[in-house]
Amino acid sequence: MRVLLSESEISERVKALGRQLSDEYSGRPLTILGVLTGSIVLLADLIRATSVPLRVALIQAASYRGAETTPGRLTINQSLVPDLRGRDVVILDDIFDTGNTMVGLYQAVRGFQPASVRSAVLLWKTARTEVDLEPDYFGFRIPDEFVVGYGLDFNDDFRHLPYVGVMEDEDLKHALAKPQDG
Ligand code: IMP
Ligand code: MG
Repeated sequence: MRVLLSESEISERVKALGRQLSDEYSGRPLTILGVLTGSIVLLADLIRATSVPLRVALIQAASYRGAETTPGRLTINQSLVPDLRGRDVVILDDIFDTGNTMVGLYQAVRGFQPASVRSAVLLWKTARTEVDLEPDYFGFRIPDEFVVGYGLDFNDDFRHLPYVGVMEDEDLKHALAKPQDG
């Protein structure tokens, strides 16, 4: 698989994002709302690079991608979300692709009446944006290619890779031919 972003590039950029958040929310208690499942690796690294009073919360979003590389219908499960009333919230996702997921998440989060809502993502596929919203914080702008690793999956695999790699047609074929476990 072709490596797009190496482990060390990601690590440096995530630390810089942590410093940026710490500066901007300096002294204000922040809630980082990680979006399951893709944000888990980023969430673990980013919170350790952030030095403001911090709460971690989780929300789940799924667009039924499975073995497809195009988005499907969005569902959001907010049953894990704690009381956010009056809190400053940063929604943290792995990637901003069409942006439809982030728009749905904003709507869901606003229902909890937080003091403010912003968004942060590791990757931003700038050429694919379909919505009138841009991420407030992002790690890298990337071209329109299907990527995996560092939390991002294809068919629920590859999230554990420490780098971000591009799934070429050959890689996709290979991944689908592999027997599934579990
Ligand atoms: P959006 O709603 O189109 O912005 O897509 C959001 C979701 O699609 C992300 O949270 C990811 O789960 C998934 N996604 C989009 N692009 C990729 C990709 O290149 N690799 C893996 N997942 C992706
Ligand atoms: Mg996701």
